[in-house]
Amino acid sequence: MLNRRFIAVTALLAASMAAGAQTRTSLKEAYRGNFLIGAAIGTPQITGQDSRGDAIVEAQFDAISPENALKWERIHPKPDTYDFTLADRYVAFGEKHHMFTVAHCLVWHNQVPDWVFRDDKGNFVDRVTLLKRMHDHISTIVGRYKGRIQSWDVVNEALNEDGTLRQSPWLKIIGEDYIAKAFQYAHQADPQAQLTYNDYSLEIEAKRKGALALIAKLKAQGVPVTSVGLQGHNSLTWPSVEDQDATISAFAKLGVKVVISELDIDVLPRAAQHPSAEVSLKVLEDPKLNPYADGLPPSVQQELAQRYADLFGVYLKHRDVVTRVTFWGVTDGDSWLNDWPVKGRTSYPLLFDRSGQPKPAFQAVTRAAADVKTMN
Ligand code: G3I
Repeated sequence: MLNRRFIAVTALLAASMAAGAQTRTSLKEAYRGNFLIGAAIGTPQITGQDSRGDAIVEAQFDAISPENALKWERIHPKPDTYDFTLADRYVAFGEKHHMFTVAHCLVWHNQVPDWVFRDDKGNFVDRVTLLKRMHDHISTIVGRYKGRIQSWDVVNEALNEDGTLRQSPWLKIIGEDYIAKAFQYAHQADPQAQLTYNDYSLEIEAKRKGALALIAKLKAQGVPVTSVGLQGHNSLTWPSVEDQDATISAFAKLGVKVVISELDIDVLPRAAQHPSAEVSLKVLEDPKLNPYADGLPPSVQQELAQRYADLFGVYLKHRDVVTRVTFWGVTDGDSWLNDWPVKGRTSYPLLFDRSGQPKPAFQAVTRAAADVKTMN
């Protein structure tokens, strides 16, 4: 008798827990009315190979970004060859799930094939030729997805850490106005699309000043910049809440929206000298740099949760200007931080663990939104 009652109670508990798991407020529900919550997705999610990841994306997020699928080398590998296979599937995924669909990125110095900048003899092409190539690329891709992609990262990472313009082939061959031209070409191809300047470490004062001057100049010239993407490749200690707050305020004053475009929080020992997301940076493997290969200690788990709560507190404070917060990956296992700047580390930067379960940081982020609602 007792045994049967025990089984019944256990079954009831299990059922209510399962229902609880299903009815637990999702990220997108928690933030509705504040800003969109996005995730960057890769080939496994776009093609449906990662059904667990897809279920998380569908349940939790109302915006997507392509981690790599729309980069130049993927979509336009040779002068007369465009490959839209993956990009088409990416856009179809967004449409199927009624998501705000972002594209990343049109003009960058990384992941661009060398032919873009060179002639048949291997020399740099001239300004007119490169502008034409840039125009063809932008008008073909933006034109193809006109009205279906809502927001483009037009220029990515044009600045050095000291706030000067990066000496990329774009700058060397075209000159400073390559940035304005890229925005104009994108706007011509889809006048309704939101257009973003996207960069990392803009919370560092010198780089932020450079970015503010750049955006102010573009706005004064009437260049159609809609928003600034603060990538948000953060650590447990950087940037400070004050710097994050000041950075968002400073861009808001220029009349652009702010997007947190590539959010993650690295809990591993810092392998680079400065906060950075420079993809070319490589550091040799060293067990000291990979301390949590067997799991994240609960104390660090809690630290991560608190850090996420603090940063979301800042985003929420600026919800009139922050339009979207996008995580750079779905689960910890997907993150680029498992291989950068040291290959093969075990990283824990996101809200879902390697088995797809929400971490304490997930609860901290949903709670941060609930706390704001209670205060209002
Ligand atoms: O797909 C190939 C695979 O076929 C090949 O076997 C393998 C061998 O290394 O490489 C695979 O491509 C890798 C790709 O990620 C997909 O995993 C590239 O080597 C690797 O360079 C690429 O890294 C991406 C990086 O940008 C460079 O494009 C990361 O996934 C992506 O997260 C990262 O994203 C950048 C943003 O675009 C800009 N901001 C910084 C951010 C983080 O670095």
